[in-house]
Amino acid sequence: MGAAAGRSEGYEMSDISIRMMTKGDIDAVAGIQEAILQRRVTARWRKAMERHIENDPQACLVAARERAPVGFVVGDVKNWGFGLRRSGWIEIVGIHPKHMGSGVGKALGRRLMAYFRRMDVDGVYTTVRWDSGDLLSFFKSLGFERSDFITLEHRGAGGSSR
Ligand SMILES: CC(C)(COP(=O)(O)OP(=O)(O)OC[C@H]1O[C@@H](n2cnc3c(N)ncnc32)[C@H](O)[C@@H]1OP(=O)(O)O)[C@@H](O)C(=O)NCCC(=O)NCCS
Repeated sequence: MGAAAGRSEGYEMSDISIRMMTKGDIDAVAGIQEAILQRRVTARWRKAMERHIENDPQACLVAARERAPVGFVVGDVKNWGFGLRRSGWIEIVGIHPKHMGSGVGKALGRRLMAYFRRMDVDGVYTTVRWDSGDLLSFFKSLGFERSDFITLEHRGAGGSSR
C-alpha cells in the first residue's frame, strides 16, 4: 500500500500494511471486534472466521501495524445465489476504535474490491443496518450505492441471537 498521510494527528498510513489474515490473527481480530461491540465474541464467531480463512483466504484481510492487526475485513465470492452469476460480498469489517478515522478501513476496502475485480464478479454487495451512519458513509466512500435488492427478515427465527 502506498504511503499516505492519515487524518489522525501523528498517524501515518505508511505504518500500516494490508495482508492476508491467518488463523494466528484470529485472537487479535476477535479483540478488535470486542473493542467495537463492547462484548465478547463467541466460539462460533471464531470458528466462522476460521472457515472463511480456509474457504477464501484472499478475501480475509487485516491491516497491521508492526504485524499486529488494527483492522480487518472479510469477504466472500458467491458463484450462485440471489439470481447473480458471480458476486462479491463484504461480510464484516472492523477497525479498532483507536485507529478509526485514519483511512485504515478504506485501505482494506479498496484491497478487497481489487480482489473482487480480479475474480470477475458482476457486483459487490453488503448489508448495513439503516441506522449505522458510520458504515453507510464508509461504504458510500468506497463507491457503494443503494442496491436493487431488499432485505427480508423473519423475526420469529433466531431473533434472540442479536
Ligand atoms: C466504519 C469503519 C469500517 C470505517 O473505517 P475507518 O478506518 O474508521 O474509516 P476511514 O478512515 O477509512 O474512512 C473512510 C470513509 O468512511 C467515512 N467514515 C468513517 N467513519 C465514519 C463515521 N464515524 N462517521 C461518518 N463517516 C465515517 C469517512 O468519512 C471516510 O470517507 P472519505 O474517504 O470520503 O473521507 C470503522 O470505523 C468501523 O469499524 N466502525 C465500527 C463498525 C461497526 O459498528 N461494526 C459493528 C457491526 S459488525
